[in-house]
Amino acid sequence: MYVSVSAMGGVSWGFDRGVTTWMLLVLVLVVLVALPKLTISNFQRSLSLMQWQLRKVGISSKASTPTPIMAQSSNLTKDSRVEGPVEQDFTFPAKSAPFNNCHASTIVEVLRETFLLYLQFVPFKIYIKHVGDFGFLQVNEDHFLVAYFGGTEEGAPDVKIWLQRYQHGRWHPPIIIDEQEDVPMWNPVLYKFPSGELLLFYKIGQDFQRWSGFLKRSYNQGVSWSEREQLPPGILGPIKNKPILLDNGDLLCGSSVESWNSWGAWMEITPDAGRTWRKYGPIYLKNESLSVIQPVPFKTARGTLRVLLRSFTGIDRICMSESHDGGMNWGYAEFTELPNPNSGIDGVKLKNGLLIVAYNTISRGILKVAVSLDDGDSWHEALTLEENLEMEFSYPAVIEASDGSVHVTYTYNRTQIKHVVLHVT
Ligand SMILES: *[C@@H]1O[C@H](CO)[C@@H](O)[C@H](O)[C@H]1NC(C)=O
Ligand SMILES: *[C@@H]1O[C@H](CO)[C@@H](O)[C@H](O)[C@H]1NC(C)=O
Ligand SMILES: *[C@@H]1O[C@H](CO)[C@@H](O)[C@H](O)[C@H]1NC(C)=O
Repeated sequence: MYVSVSAMGGVSWGFDRGVTTWMLLVLVLVVLVALPKLTISNFQRSLSLMQWQLRKVGISSKASTPTPIMAQSSNLTKDSRVEGPVEQDFTFPAKSAPFNNCHASTIVEVLRETFLLYLQFVPFKIYIKHVGDFGFLQVNEDHFLVAYFGGTEEGAPDVKIWLQRYQHGRWHPPIIIDEQEDVPMWNPVLYKFPSGELLLFYKIGQDFQRWSGFLKRSYNQGVSWSEREQLPPGILGPIKNKPILLDNGDLLCGSSVESWNSWGAWMEITPDAGRTWRKYGPIYLKNESLSVIQPVPFKTARGTLRVLLRSFTGIDRICMSESHDGGMNWGYAEFTELPNPNSGIDGVKLKNGLLIVAYNTISRGILKVAVSLDDGDSWHEALTLEENLEMEFSYPAVIEASDGSVHVTYTYNRTQIKHVVLHVT
């Protein structure tokens, strides 16, 4: 017997031996019903989700590592829409990288690899053919890029920008994207336009009071990168967190300045993928000279724009500001309910309307995830990702992948970058 499934979805078959015919017909039916919904990554994720749920109810013998919840004054109510981590890994094994210290990761989903699953039973063979994103049975594969800075320690003259690719089910080793003799590099931010063009923003300078903004471009999913481009004077680019694209083509980059006795945020807007810029702000807390930095921009359901902000020591809250005119005018920053120990945050507005943020609470030793159903007006605690006051889990980067899962990378005690996948129900 043979069965073939063509790219157009046509199926034909014939018989040679009667014995296996019915078995094969049943198999083909199962394949036809199940496979269009099944992608390899979804399959792996469903499996991990299942294993994780089994561990949660104590069925699996696999050792789980429940996080001890310390008594802590948080008035946030719980929300169970976000579950996980359903997967977690390090981008490289401990002590395997060519640097001691790394920090400030950023993650982007590269165009999904799409394959056509072409089945031909003669009597039983499976071929996988690469045919772009057209086909009857598609097989998708996770494909991410992560960048961060690494060197002897933050601010050391040997700190470079490193990039790693997650493809074919594993993290590939770090490679250098840019370096400058005797000058450290800082806070890379990856962004992918719907066209597929990738931007990698970063800063170069002796310290964060004197750094300047740069970017590189890639048109081939991060395989090769353009020469370094310097941003105009006073434009730093997205300072830690990914930008957002508006319907009019404006890319909104949350930026900030940390100079002597002066901390505040700015919105830098480029309508042409980083070639020309306008800058709006400052965004700050009324009467505070050392106030807020590192904005996380997002669109609200009402059509306004908001930013979540890290705040200076003593303010101890994540703050928020709003713009009613596409990012040009911003209100004073206001407190949210979420704590912040002067530490980087990141978040993303999901397609389902949920706003999700990863943040430290009382120290960089506690990393949590909170969600908001009303664009940041009120918050619910969702997960504790890490809790160990002797360690540092900081500078999260949060994205929503095309399959709806949430991917978070963060600094793991300054020696590794950890990657976790969360499931949103
Ligand atoms: C929690 O609520 C109590 C009573 O309303 C208040 O005194 C306390 O400051 C709140 N704690 C936090 C962390 O917001
Ligand atoms: C800001 O400072 C002014 C002048 O010192 C004062 O009148 C006002 O109450 C302050 N506002 C806030 C919100 O602290
Ligand atoms: C985490 O980093 C701190 C500071 O460098 C170090 O003292 C500690 O041993 C590290 N902990 C682990 C578990 O690696």
